Amino acid sequence: MAYTSDIRNHFPIFRHHPDLTYLDSAATTLKPETVIDAEREYLERYSTNVGRGLYPLAEKATDTFEMTRQKTAAFIGARNEKEVIFTDGATASLNLAARLLESLVTPKDNILATVLEHHSNFLPWKELATRTGAEFRVAPIDTDECVDRDALVDMTDEHTKIVAFSAVSNVIGGINPVSEIVKRIKEKNPHAVVVVDAAQAIGHQPIDVSLWNADFVAFSAHKAFGPTGVGVLFGKEALLETLPPVSFGGGMVLESCAETPKYREIPFRFEAGTPNIGGVIAWGAAIDFMKNIGVENIRAHEETLTKYALEKLSGAFGKTIRLIGPKDAKKRSGIIAFAIHGMHPHDIAHLLGESNICVRAGEHCAAPLHRALNLDATTRLSFSVYNSKEDIDRLIKRLKEIRKIL
Ligand code: ALA
Repeated sequence: MAYTSDIRNHFPIFRHHPDLTYLDSAATTLKPETVIDAEREYLERYSTNVGRGLYPLAEKATDTFEMTRQKTAAFIGARNEKEVIFTDGATASLNLAARLLESLVTPKDNILATVLEHHSNFLPWKELATRTGAEFRVAPIDTDECVDRDALVDMTDEHTKIVAFSAVSNVIGGINPVSEIVKRIKEKNPHAVVVVDAAQAIGHQPIDVSLWNADFVAFSAHKAFGPTGVGVLFGKEALLETLPPVSFGGGMVLESCAETPKYREIPFRFEAGTPNIGGVIAWGAAIDFMKNIGVENIRAHEETLTKYALEKLSGAFGKTIRLIGPKDAKKRSGIIAFAIHGMHPHDIAHLLGESNICVRAGEHCAAPLHRALNLDATTRLSFSVYNSKEDIDRLIKRLKEIRKIL
């Protein structure tokens, strides 16, 4: 399947809501038919457990599940499938990374994050610093309202144990040059563990974790056409091999009766309990969907829409609108947060919602960033492959009507 304008036909939700203008894909993307079918097929035809059963149905479940791990590794450029840990979502992945690294952090260390992080890539590090007595440092934003890369590198020193930042901010949409940032951090301190939150990058731009050279990369499936309840934590094999498990139970242990239990090899020792099998298998179908379209085609489409929306919004609202983040669509993903003078974001989102136009309003789980921007809340649009310029025209027409009401 190549990229075409009738891509909406692959998303059953539009058959149920033909007038839906969905501009909230940063919260979660809509789901293509093939993803829904893959989960249904598992549930209907071979809904058995993985890694345990010795009968054909369970072997099929295990094989399909493990093939999805291989597919994920190839999709993100991991060296092999041992570097792919399945979790419940990006938040679970980042919390797992923090727990895995806990034994390495001492009160002499510092942990570095940035002010534009989603709470999921801010609070686990702040809490880890509190638990271990390490210093928590927060890098600021620059004049483009993206992460201040120079400050992030300057704030890294020989005591920095962890540096956490996002590939794409869920509010600003600015695309960070991850490889360059990781390189500069590692030049300053080769022992610093770099963690990248790729929740808003996966499915919107090609990702190559080996090229990025980050130690951990986290994302969820549901923001890239997959189901909710599935996430990935990529970790470099050499690092994972050194880390003890932090969650205990079935499926991760080899010898539990010994005084010192023996745990399975990576990544299984980090996956205690029965996973979201149907969800992982459906995530495999989401990867196929993205590969068939071509992630670079998705990126090009979103860039066109972002450029169009930035121009239309500033044309319609002039000096009364504050468009957050870089003005150049090439520097940003398909996310646009804005504030319009005299129109509260919650009123905007509510009134747009009455016309079946879906946007998000508020702090978007990024309160430190909104403090830094000196804003209580913003309205956020976010695009995906099923959006068109007509969606943006419809949004702007309705926004102009709402301005007259408010
Ligand atoms: N993290 C999601 C968002 O930014 C929920 O909307």
